[in-house]
Amino acid sequence: MQTTSIHGMWSSRLAFILAATGSAVGLGNIWRFPYVTSDNGGGAFVLIYLACILLVGLPIMWTEIVIGRRGRMSPINSIRELADDAGASRKWMGLGIIGVLAGFLILSFYSVVAGWTLHYGFLYLKELFGGTPITDPEATFTGLLASPGELTFWHGLFMLMTMGVVAFGVEKGLERAVSILMPMLFVLLLVLLGYGMNTGYFTDAASFLFRPDWSQVSGGMIVTAMGQAFFTLSLGMCAIMTYGAYLPSGVNIPKVGITVAATDTVVALIAGLAIFPIVISFGLDPEGGGAGLIFTSLPLAFAEMPFGIIYGFLFFTLLSIAAWTSGISLMEPATAYIVESTNLSRKAAALCVAAVAWIMGLASVFSFNLWAEVSIGGRDVMSAIEYVANDIMLPVGGLLTALFGGWILSSRITREELDKKMPTWAFNAWLWITRIVTPALILVVLAGLFGII
Ligand code: PFF
Repeated sequence: MQTTSIHGMWSSRLAFILAATGSAVGLGNIWRFPYVTSDNGGGAFVLIYLACILLVGLPIMWTEIVIGRRGRMSPINSIRELADDAGASRKWMGLGIIGVLAGFLILSFYSVVAGWTLHYGFLYLKELFGGTPITDPEATFTGLLASPGELTFWHGLFMLMTMGVVAFGVEKGLERAVSILMPMLFVLLLVLLGYGMNTGYFTDAASFLFRPDWSQVSGGMIVTAMGQAFFTLSLGMCAIMTYGAYLPSGVNIPKVGITVAATDTVVALIAGLAIFPIVISFGLDPEGGGAGLIFTSLPLAFAEMPFGIIYGFLFFTLLSIAAWTSGISLMEPATAYIVESTNLSRKAAALCVAAVAWIMGLASVFSFNLWAEVSIGGRDVMSAIEYVANDIMLPVGGLLTALFGGWILSSRITREELDKKMPTWAFNAWLWITRIVTPALILVVLAGLFGII
């Protein structure tokens, strides 16, 4: 059994928690959660999403950390080793391959959206120094989307920033970045919540978010809720598995898993509770906001509130930081795999991954301008990529992870990794949820998606 990874190790339990939370908390919480909630009618969607976090997300989070820590390598190689040890087929490596592919697809569009946030941070920074204010947010946003050059620049900048951290490796790059950036993020988010509470529309927002209208439930909505649960917790593409490979032995996996999942969920709910009061107070429709929701609604508030420019600057800086720490974890699995399998250095490997993801991201850039007319199954190009990666590939990856952890790894290994002192009933509960309940739920949703039921 390996006790360290060739890529380096987190220096402490807290370092892992910060890194994994940094991965989980990102655009998924602050950009995507509010907009998919808005597009899916509010309360019922949120409750189904929360159920997915608990019944699907958390067991898979534990399983990913277990597999990662036991294998101590990038996902594809960890799974190969563990499958060999268990006498199982090497075809299980397919799980790692799906993960790496999903990672490229997600990183490609993620970096484009992160580029929007960098651009907005910069707009407010310029405004602070006398630049033109955002008076018509709708026009500013449409203007940005119409410019492939501008989108490509910011997408490229984000990719470079991400690559810069990954190139320096686990201790010097990842750990140092997250331990400074994460605490800043929490403070800024609480300030934003304080503003939301003072708009006078806090209860309306809370009831939009939590009062379920079950008539809105549809198969498509459940698929989106599950996809969002995977996306927001960074599960199904072996990112948390990769971080697990750098987790010191002896750290209690169930506890750190709960901490990360709970923090991520709280951040999404706080983001919703901060953003929807603003949307409502400006007379915007909380429903059907689309991917531009925060970019078209929040600047209205920033234009009116005292110190709004500083606030706007802080908010988009916060979002860029959150996206950055997630982007790092999107890039790490493929980079670690290249380092293990070739004689490229970490810096060269990170450069290759960043270059490929940047080129793939151009498809998302063009989906708003040059390819605006292109529609794939009724979706624009970026939404189609988002749909395939988040709503299909992540659940498939999660399903395979649960099956691998539940049925292929011996329960001696999983028990040893999870927590040796765990009571038998608790271990059995985890085991059977991971073996049966979680896979069954994912299968039902996927079967619905493909029209089988
Ligand atoms: N969890 C991130 C977010 O919510 O923004 C996105 C993400 C990161 C998804 C890493 C998947 C992943 F592996």
